[in-house]
Amino acid sequence: EPQRTKRQAISAEPTALDPSKLTDVTLTSYRKTKDELIQRALMDNDFMKHLEHGQILTIMDCMYPTSLAKGCCVIQEGDDGSTVYVLEEGMVEVTKQGKKLCTIGPGKVFGELAILYNCTRTASVTALTDIKLWAIDRQGFQTIMMRTGFIKHSQYTDFLRSVPSFQSLPEDILSKLADVLEETHYSDSDYIIRQGAIGDTFFIISDGQVKVSQQNSVNDEQVTVKTLSKGDWFGEQALKGEDIRTASYTAVGDVTCLVIDRDLFALLCALCRLQAEADFFSSVS
Ligand code: CMP
Repeated sequence: EPQRTKRQAISAEPTALDPSKLTDVTLTSYRKTKDELIQRALMDNDFMKHLEHGQILTIMDCMYPTSLAKGCCVIQEGDDGSTVYVLEEGMVEVTKQGKKLCTIGPGKVFGELAILYNCTRTASVTALTDIKLWAIDRQGFQTIMMRTGFIKHSQYTDFLRSVPSFQSLPEDILSKLADVLEETHYSDSDYIIRQGAIGDTFFIISDGQVKVSQQNSVNDEQVTVKTLSKGDWFGEQALKGEDIRTASYTAVGDVTCLVIDRDLFALLCALCRLQAEADFFSSVS
């Protein structure tokens, strides 16, 4: 790892995290034959398995190969970490203050803690054999983490802008709404809404397809009315007042929806009204 003093590293961190710099970072993709090993290693790691699937795939894509000889120190406890590794071949030993913690074999991630938590290396890692590694540096890793957040936020704002009830809302309110949208996940055939139920939640589909069906009043059969997909929304009446759902909505395959309920929506509107009043009074005083 590059030798840097602690002070330099600390002052360098805000630059790596500065959103305005993210567009300058070019993520390089490396062709590799070990996709599966890397992906499994990332998904198996306690701290990384909660990342989104897309983030895991991009991290995997940007990892580059490197190798070290037996006896080399891969990570020194207390250093400023700059790299996350996946071990492809060989064995490494993890020690803390001279005491052995464990050995790690192929298909495992290490060196993630200092990068994820912006701390110094929590342990030393030494090569017990010649080793082959896949690596991603701090800047690439953090860019992937943050870009995903920005892309999501602007995508959520775009979704909201396409809903007629929200079209007249000013940009800053749309942006606040995008912040509070919650992601919910459904599997194939899950009911998202049941016809006849009382609802207080509004949904936007961010991924997958949703079948809309209604009960035929003559023979009680469920009739498919239409299929909705990404960017479509439903349940908007619920934001205005108590809504008896007039149709059932079921997931077709895996579905992700963005949801907001009436209380949160009302709170946000009230806050926005207060803000507008405050702006008005400060402009006339
Ligand atoms: P990091 O702190 O970045 O650098 C040292 C790495 O050793 C650390 O990330 C983990 O990947 C790994 N490590 C630290 N403590 C343990 C432990 N108790 N068991 C296994 N691995 C560890």
